[in-house]
Amino acid sequence: MGTTSPDLYLAVDRGRGVRAQVEAGIRAAVRGGRLAAGTRLPSTRALAADLGVTRRVVVEAYDQLVAEGYLSARQGAGTVVNAVPRGADAAPSADAGRRLVVDFRPGHPDPALFPRAAWARASRAACAGLGAAELDGADRRGLPALRTALAEYLGRVRGVDAHPDRIVVCSSFGHAVDLLVRVLPGYRFAVEEPGYPVPRNRLLRDGRRVDLVAVDGEGLIVDALRRTTARAVVVTPAHQSPTGVAMSPPRRSALVAWARDVDGYVVEDDFDAEFRYDRRPVGALQGLAPERVVYCGTTAKTLASGLRLGWAVLPAALVDEVVALRADTDGATSTVLQATFAQLLRSGDLDRHLRRSRRVYRARRDAVVAAVHRWLPQATVGGIAAGLNVVLTLPDGTDEQAVVARAAERGIGVYPHRWFTADPGCARPGLVLGYGTVTPEQAGQGVRVLGEVVAAR
Ligand SMILES: Cc1ncc(COP(=O)(O)O)c(C=O)c1O
Repeated sequence: MGTTSPDLYLAVDRGRGVRAQVEAGIRAAVRGGRLAAGTRLPSTRALAADLGVTRRVVVEAYDQLVAEGYLSARQGAGTVVNAVPRGADAAPSADAGRRLVVDFRPGHPDPALFPRAAWARASRAACAGLGAAELDGADRRGLPALRTALAEYLGRVRGVDAHPDRIVVCSSFGHAVDLLVRVLPGYRFAVEEPGYPVPRNRLLRDGRRVDLVAVDGEGLIVDALRRTTARAVVVTPAHQSPTGVAMSPPRRSALVAWARDVDGYVVEDDFDAEFRYDRRPVGALQGLAPERVVYCGTTAKTLASGLRLGWAVLPAALVDEVVALRADTDGATSTVLQATFAQLLRSGDLDRHLRRSRRVYRARRDAVVAAVHRWLPQATVGGIAAGLNVVLTLPDGTDEQAVVARAAERGIGVYPHRWFTADPGCARPGLVLGYGTVTPEQAGQGVRVLGEVVAAR
């Protein structure tokens, strides 16, 4: 290919860091639109000769840019520029995520793993089996067939004490929280700190006061909860969000005892318990006290957030009120969606999908952890045993926001620990790195760039 190799102008100062200059020059040209998608780059030999550097320098620069997604190396066609949206330099946000080359967005499963064929089969079977009454949307708690299948699944997989009559199918964990906040108007709520911000924000939206209760290596500190006047608390016992801690057995017993003492409720957010890697499954808290714990589950991690399907297993005392509220608000959840998911559960396809996904996510998790040890040895990595993200604690004094912004300039989306804290001042500098959509190769390349950004602070 040497004689037909296309030309490429790159300003390189041969004095120092030549590989980084080649990488940066090509990256900037792709982002700025000077190198359009589909453009073929010079061969490594030709570019090395033009620049007066060794071929190895160019090979390594191309490899890095391939891993970052800027270039593709095609057998027989050489190295070609990929379509990368221009100006990928905004601070990462849910929207900006689309412009990032490697996006460590926490908590998102990979849409590519969605079991499309199994879902299509389940959907066909569900449509064939749905009766007129079910299409009419009769039962506000949810389709009896789904509630029966869920009771079996949750009992088997999570140790939930779930009778179909106590289950209410809804659209998400957030929806379940909304229903509970409304049916418990006089209750003061507490949430974990750090914690998933959705319940806190939902309560603040109504002008309700919220107690923030600290979390340590055993989960929520129940003694601190006892010092509040809360009568309801939202917790993530199987896998604390974001620290990844599993609540210890003594804390679980203490939490249930607290709920009995205050005549209150624990809202259990069991959002990603299916993804565990090197520890034994931690059963649901609800199994210890079904009359005190509202168990909430979601398909947002196991399948896709866009599905909008979740459920709550309620204490008997709350069922009628929640059902009445549904009647006055959204009615019920789509019966067509519910019937399809019931079929996916009954056929064993959900179990198969989860086994497969677990293997993929474990490899991605391993790659992130290995890359942190290699490229960011000054950080500590935690919360690795389960879920879809790890937590990085950065050296004291690191400016977390500056790291996030500078990583974004280089096309790497990372997210501050601060996002999970109501009181940002107390948080140690850290990042939450999601690996759900990050391949092992991207993990290595993304963390390598992150290591350079942190080192340059
Ligand atoms: C801690 C936690 N709980 C629950 C959820 C799921 O939310 P939903 O079912 O409302 O989409 C998420 C999703 O990001 C989460 O991180």
